[in-house]
Amino acid sequence: MTKNMTIYPLSDFEYLRKAGKLAAETLDYITPFVEPGVSTGKLDSLLEDFMRSHGGIPATIGYHGYTKASCISPNHVICHGIPNDHKILQDGDIINIDITVIVDGWYGDTSRMYYVGKPSIKARRLVETTYKTMMVGIEQCKPGNTTGDIGHAMQTLAASENFSVVMDFCGHGIGRVFHGLPNILNYGVPGTGTELVPGMVFTVEPMVNIGTHQALILSDGWTAITKDRSLSAQFEHTIGITPDGYEIFTLSPNGWTYPPYR
Ligand code: MF3
Ligand code: CO
Ligand code: CO
Repeated sequence: MTKNMTIYPLSDFEYLRKAGKLAAETLDYITPFVEPGVSTGKLDSLLEDFMRSHGGIPATIGYHGYTKASCISPNHVICHGIPNDHKILQDGDIINIDITVIVDGWYGDTSRMYYVGKPSIKARRLVETTYKTMMVGIEQCKPGNTTGDIGHAMQTLAASENFSVVMDFCGHGIGRVFHGLPNILNYGVPGTGTELVPGMVFTVEPMVNIGTHQALILSDGWTAITKDRSLSAQFEHTIGITPDGYEIFTLSPNGWTYPPYR
């Protein structure tokens, strides 16, 4: 399948702001529900109801056969964890909630980590480092820089804490489609890859592991886990390239960045 790279007129950014805002509001909304004893299936149904009642459509439902409104990935699950009513969150878990919402045909894709009760110091260090990894990647986003600059910055930050970046999944172009070009790898060589120009819209969504970067896909065909079962974390923003840098479309209206959110 060939993917297109669309350069959007900057006037289209208003639509991306709207979709991105609802996506971020959805992640804000779910925050107080993330507690020991709740199932990931319950969180998913709350997320779906919130998106639909605010004029959004969950993009993941029906996407290549996926049936849920979110991906919820605890502990050693890297990404694409499938919410279900039997997966009960426990004190000390760290989880990623990833949602993509369509508003008037435009996509907003974002994910954050959440703490269930009180995770270990090491788990919290992973989560904070993963947030920093995303942000140093985003800071590379300006015309003239390349996708390799983004990946290099992210890999370097994660490696400085002796963590690894996942190589099997990456950020992606987005806009009026869910997944397009350019690919935003979580590693790279400065100055290589696609040159960034105003009007490009893509996600930055590094996954960082405490142990090996290697991933396995479970027999459900979706759930990606770390090969060594070490903890994994991820954050994701949807951004657009502007004449002098970037605009983040999925910032939390509450100003929340990484947990604990208060
Ligand atoms: N939201 C994910 C991303 O960041 C994609 C999830 S696709 C699904 O690209 F089908 F697994 F939900
Ligand atoms: Co994405
Ligand atoms: Co996502």
